Amino acid sequence: MTIQTYEIERKAQTRTHLEAELTKSLSADERHLPSLCLWDQQGLQLFEDITHSEDYYPFAAEVSLLRGNVDNLLDHISEGGAILELGSGSLEKTDILLQGLSHLQRHVDYYALDVSPSELYRTLNAIEDKLGDNSTVKCHPLVCTYEESLVWLKQNPVLDGRDVIVLWLGSSMANETPETIQRLLRSFKAASESSQIGKLTFLIGIDGCKDITRISRAYDLSNGLSRRFAMNGIANINSIMGYNVFDPKDWVFRGLWNSKQSRYETCLSPVRDIALQIGRQAIHLKSSELVRLIYSQKWDRGDMERILEGTGFGITKCWKNPEGGYGTSLSTAQVLQHTHIPGLVLYQLE
Ligand SMILES: C[S@@+](CC[C@H](N)C(=O)[O-])C[C@H]1O[C@@H](n2cnc3c(N)ncnc32)[C@H](O)[C@@H]1O
Repeated sequence: MTIQTYEIERKAQTRTHLEAELTKSLSADERHLPSLCLWDQQGLQLFEDITHSEDYYPFAAEVSLLRGNVDNLLDHISEGGAILELGSGSLEKTDILLQGLSHLQRHVDYYALDVSPSELYRTLNAIEDKLGDNSTVKCHPLVCTYEESLVWLKQNPVLDGRDVIVLWLGSSMANETPETIQRLLRSFKAASESSQIGKLTFLIGIDGCKDITRISRAYDLSNGLSRRFAMNGIANINSIMGYNVFDPKDWVFRGLWNSKQSRYETCLSPVRDIALQIGRQAIHLKSSELVRLIYSQKWDRGDMERILEGTGFGITKCWKNPEGGYGTSLSTAQVLQHTHIPGLVLYQLE
């Protein structure tokens, strides 16, 4: 495979950075762990298994949305343009778009960004093999975090004069706080404006389902994968820190729906009073205390519009999942008329 590798300075997953992050996040009023710890090789493979589980509805919903609207979606990806995918994961969904572009003989560079090098190379190799040597779509890995990619976007002459579409699928955006999203979107806009790149567009997938039973079944799977995925997060922290910060025997999975914040919270909880040693500092936790690990925020269009305020981006188009009687309409105006519980929606931001 002739993939080109970019050297991006990566700090987010080093021991020093993690130690500072853990001290801060475990001392916060609402204790939490940095969600980045979930996404090592093992975590990504577990997540891939999660997405294939019957009750994990967001994945199937997004796949059917992409398949059902692929021609229309491809119209938004310019000849000679570049695609940057934030958190590319298994690439199963991206495959739908890339195969479509290749079929149209559209020349596009696809940059897959994720944090586990081994998984990124595995998934990207597989997709390149499927595309074949003569494809007009060229694939490149970017091993870094969302934030770390900003320098690449700003300083990359390869992108000069080219339209860039940023894919943020799988409700990945909804794991971040609204403040983080606003900051990132503003930074992406600023980076594109201070560089020579053409038009910057985002295509994001967001789940607006507020059916708590359905959500709870999806995020605490009966096959036990959600629990294994969460526990892998602390195993990864132990591995990066080089000693057992967490004894897995002391921790259990807890998941809860936070109706005020409209989000499912995947948490871990100690089974007894414990003291965690983070570097030189001891942090004391009470038995059954909640430590948040990841949020799955469920946002409808109104929520999205509030988040976008002041970022310089607005929704220009949205594609809504027809499943569950939500209607097959693709136009924004008609989508807004629906009062049913919304399902997964793809938004185009410009
Ligand atoms: C919910 S998964 C979605 C994966 C894939 N896009 C999909 O739709 O199935 C989130 C993805 O984002 C990556 N990720 C999470 N936080 C990240 C960050 N701060 N920087 C880069 N990648 C991140 C994870 O490794 C994972 O692949």
